[in-house]
Amino acid sequence: MAVNGGLDVPFDIARVYYIVGTKGHARGFHAHRKLHQILVCVSGSCRVIIDDGHNRREHFLDRPDSGLHVKPYQWREMVDFSADCVLLVLASAHYDEADYIRDYDVFLAETTTATLE
Ligand code: TYD
Repeated sequence: MAVNGGLDVPFDIARVYYIVGTKGHARGFHAHRKLHQILVCVSGSCRVIIDDGHNRREHFLDRPDSGLHVKPYQWREMVDFSADCVLLVLASAHYDEADYIRDYDVFLAETTTATLE
């Protein structure tokens, strides 16, 4: 399976990482201010909850040939990882802790501001 930056993915890929060994542990619980990500479950399965500050949508990822685009100001929660889950993440920028919003109330406040701008 191949992934071409700018072709299959609508941004230049600056970083690739993968989340493994997470059975029984939830991950995420944050949003990003600028980062775009594509989540591909290359093995096993997991559920991803996306919250834009107004609605929460749940996605079940269990296919290596499709990805979920997670955009700025989308709060994400990743849960129910299968034991064999490998979640590949293609990211538009290098790791930057300043880009994270880890407090849900701050996320809601910034989302409202961003929507009004
Ligand atoms: P985090 O993004 O909070 O994890 P998840 O979304 O999987 O729950 O990252 C967990 C820790 O790993 C955090 O302390 C930051 C660190 N980290 C890096 O150093 N580089 C990276 O590329 C990523 C994604 C995380």
